Amino acid sequence: MIKLDNFSSFFVANWKLNGNFKFIDQFISKISLPKDSSKCVVICPTSIYLDYISKNKMGFYLGAQNVSQHKDGAFTGEISADSLDDINVDFCIVGHSERRQFFFEKNEEINHKSENLIKNNIVPIICIGETLEDKKKGITNDILEEQLKKSIPISSNFENSIIAYEPVWAIGTGLTPTNDEINDTHSFIREHNAKFNKFKIIYGGSVKANNVNEITSLLNVDGALIGGASLKSDEFTKIIQD
Ligand code: PGA
Repeated sequence: MIKLDNFSSFFVANWKLNGNFKFIDQFISKISLPKDSSKCVVICPTSIYLDYISKNKMGFYLGAQNVSQHKDGAFTGEISADSLDDINVDFCIVGHSERRQFFFEKNEEINHKSENLIKNNIVPIICIGETLEDKKKGITNDILEEQLKKSIPISSNFENSIIAYEPVWAIGTGLTPTNDEINDTHSFIREHNAKFNKFKIIYGGSVKANNVNEITSLLNVDGALIGGASLKSDEFTKIIQD
């Protein structure tokens, strides 16, 4: 497993359901990686391209966007943590809000997925976040606490897992919480249970070249999970170079 402590910050590109061979070749030839090797850059393509990128990557790490909660067996269409490990995947996003929302993933399932990943030396990037409705009701911290309690397995620790705080209402909308709100929420995640004190906690939701610096320099923020802006090689280069 990658030694998370070797890095000061993490920049995770979540390509979602985008990209093909042509896109990947162009993207890899155009991005310029940071000289600062303490920045960990992770690219998460759709599963079908993981093996191709694994064989062609240079200077960045490889992440999957999802994994089965099952180890093996009669689960048609699923991909196991063991097979991700076989093709040298280092990280895997789990519990992204799109999976919770459109594929009805529950905290317990996310917990099993994360546990299987850790067993296979893959770092789960476990996503949590409140909806706009939760925020309006003032129950953000309760929602996060529940998600943390149920979706993070006992085997998770600061050396083998990353937490991504992604307010659902900020994803793909161009809206972001204020810097103070982001910092306070990360601090809440870190402080409310001693288990999370040393975890790397990254922020996601409308991160772009023009706001990444101010967000990732906040005291309690250890990097960013980037969707839309990670699909443009020039913008992504600015994000990781800043
Ligand atoms: P966005 O997506 O950067 O396009 O808001 C973030 C994510 O879904 O992880």
